[in-house]
Amino acid sequence: MAGHVFLETINLTKRFGEILAVDSVSLRVNTGEIRGLIGENGSGKSTVSSMISATHTVTSGEMLANGQPYRPKTSRDARNAGIAMVVQEMGTISELTVAENIFLGEETRFKKNGFINRKAMNSAAQKALADIGATDMDVSKPARAFNFETRKLVEIAKAIYFDPTLLIVDETTTALSHSGREILYKLIADFKQKGKAVLFISHDLPELMQTCDCLTVLRDGKLVAHIAKDEFDESQIKQAMVGRKIEGDYYRSDFDSTYGSRVALRASLSVNGLDSFEIILHDGEILGVCGLSDCGMHQLGRALFGLDKGKSGTVTFFGADTGIEKTIGSIESALDAGIGYISKDRDTEALILPASIKENLVLSALHKMGRVISPKKERDFASRQIDHLSIRCSSMNQPVAELSGGNKQKVSFSKWIGNGSRVLIMDSPTRGVDVGAKTTMYQLICRLKGEGYAILLISEELPELIGMCDSVAVMKDGKITARFPRSQDLSESKIIEHMI
Ligand SMILES: Nc1ncnc2c1ncn2[C@@H]1O[C@H](COP(=O)(O)OP(=O)(O)OP(=O)(O)O)[C@@H](O)[C@H]1O
Ligand SMILES: [Mg+2]
Repeated sequence: MAGHVFLETINLTKRFGEILAVDSVSLRVNTGEIRGLIGENGSGKSTVSSMISATHTVTSGEMLANGQPYRPKTSRDARNAGIAMVVQEMGTISELTVAENIFLGEETRFKKNGFINRKAMNSAAQKALADIGATDMDVSKPARAFNFETRKLVEIAKAIYFDPTLLIVDETTTALSHSGREILYKLIADFKQKGKAVLFISHDLPELMQTCDCLTVLRDGKLVAHIAKDEFDESQIKQAMVGRKIEGDYYRSDFDSTYGSRVALRASLSVNGLDSFEIILHDGEILGVCGLSDCGMHQLGRALFGLDKGKSGTVTFFGADTGIEKTIGSIESALDAGIGYISKDRDTEALILPASIKENLVLSALHKMGRVISPKKERDFASRQIDHLSIRCSSMNQPVAELSGGNKQKVSFSKWIGNGSRVLIMDSPTRGVDVGAKTTMYQLICRLKGEGYAILLISEELPELIGMCDSVAVMKDGKITARFPRSQDLSESKIIEHMI
């Protein structure tokens, strides 16, 4: 065991009404240590972290920071105790500038003669970002001008700026691009080297096993195991998480990449104002798209769904039953044509957070349910979707805002499955979901392929693409630079060569 105990929780407990989210968790985080926190979706990881960082109040139990009683009421109290957290969901405010986001609540640092010195604030923000290796960002622009990955970097810079001793990183890596991940891994390594502490939450087991010195496993709000690095074993960790043995691969087992000959969607478009390229998607095809974050793959998904107004080119959908061609130019036309889109950014694009699970689920299915929407039809649809992916909730009427990150993602995924969309554009569909739910999602994707659905799978997770797709297209600088057919020999390194 390295260093000394920096943070200790004793029987930490959190109730949300009837829900016991965290049940008597006692753990210690040492200096010089990278501790992983793992558990299924809804097992209480974010709630534990949020109590430590003061975003949630404690129902009962104690905490000690540096050996002293620690009862933070605000995030400033946490900051003063040397604790900072990068949250799982969007942690920046769209309408504030990047600089204002970084110094939210700390504006007085830049006050001069009763006014805030914007210039000083902006240059401090620029430096905070440069310190983590993120340059080229105009900090005077509102956060909404930046994509999800970039906004996560702003949050990381903000957490680091105040020089914490304990950094909590909640399920951030899957929201980041490759370069963003490198930034984060380097920061984490630096923390350890400087004798500081990190509490690292992720669903990526290989990543956790590589990064962490020890793992703490939560199940149903309870702490079930501490595992030291020399005892790391993937299948045992999974077993501790779910309470039963999980076996086998969760990707497709076949290497048969045949699919229908009928074209379901043809797009000729340009993203980022560059040369146009063509995407053809057939019935029953799973086409993977990967690349570095700025390669244009996320814009491609948005453009195919009629979301990006600035795109040029055409997207044509070919109706399976009708044979009618439709040009997609707006979300309405995409929905009408039967195109579904799972956005990478679930909080602002995919879900209506204050609305219930049921409302979120049926929203995308409304146009398929006929003119008269019976409450029973809605309930049946919602309850099927909740069962399918084991969405952990108190009822279908619970607001989505109250769900854990992975369970929100399951709602975002489910709303397009079974609503009648024949073409599905999935951008990072398994972001933040646990291994069990991933298995179900992959099985569903396979089943949809078998039923003739055309699927475009955009992902930063290369094993997922290699494991699931009939072919993988690599994008670079707004163009497709390589295509690989499904093959047992396809490796991550072969793909990466064409990404960078
Ligand atoms: N504001 C809230 N109101 C009601 N219940 C909540 C609230 N926040 C969290 N919960 C519930 O607490 C439980 C634990 O959620 P938590 O977000 O801590 O899970 P998690 O382990 O972080 O999961 P994930 O891997 O999906 O992010 C879940 O059942 C969740 O629905
Ligand atoms: Mg969480």
